[in-house]
Amino acid sequence: MHISLIVATDKNNGIGINGDQPAFISEDLKRFKALTTGNTIVMGRKTYQALPKGALPNRRNIVLTRQKDFFAPGCDIISHIEEIKNICSADEKVFIIGGGEIYKLFFSEAREIYLTLIHYSFEGIDTWFPEISPDQWEIVKKEGPYTDPKNGLSYSYLNYNRK
Ligand SMILES: NC(=O)c1ccc[n+]([C@@H]2O[C@H](COP(=O)([O-])OP(=O)(O)OC[C@H]3O[C@@H](n4cnc5c(N)ncnc54)[C@H](OP(=O)(O)O)[C@@H]3O)[C@@H](O)[C@H]2O)c1
Repeated sequence: MHISLIVATDKNNGIGINGDQPAFISEDLKRFKALTTGNTIVMGRKTYQALPKGALPNRRNIVLTRQKDFFAPGCDIISHIEEIKNICSADEKVFIIGGGEIYKLFFSEAREIYLTLIHYSFEGIDTWFPEISPDQWEIVKKEGPYTDPKNGLSYSYLNYNRK
């Protein structure tokens, strides 16, 4: 199993405000779709419940929750991080898509991070991505900065591999 984290953060590692993301960048959403389609995505119950139409199509959706009777149409449900090893095959490409609790859980297991860095400090952030230490991670690809035409935000794509 190949585990990658995929995330959009602001300049201070901020990823969430009041259960929502601080910003949506349409090109980033397209990139997220291109990277994850045909693969497996893993998310926390809160991130799942924030998806406007439920499970994302054309990829395997896995939701982590401690609730025994939780039902999410089109999703596999797990209640412990270790279960991922039982239900995913050795060659499966698994993207951890959030939120804060789930990134923390899988951070030490991941080999890659697909980071969209928004060059802005949002007010009111209440959820963060773990610090990406340069001692442990190296940048293998960098694209941008680009500017979102709708909201004017500047952003870059940074791909990290674990050293
Ligand atoms: N910027 C980004 O790229 C990005 C991406 C995704 C999400 N987000 C943001 O992140 C925020 C949500 O993050 P969050 O940390 O509040 O919630 P979360 O990580 O999405 O979900 C947390 C839930 O996951 C379950 N969980 C956590 N640890 C578990 C474990 N060890 N075993 C089993 N289940 C476990 C629990 O569900 P139960 O309570 O049901 O047991 C817990 O309440 C939102 O603001 C969202 O918009 C941002």
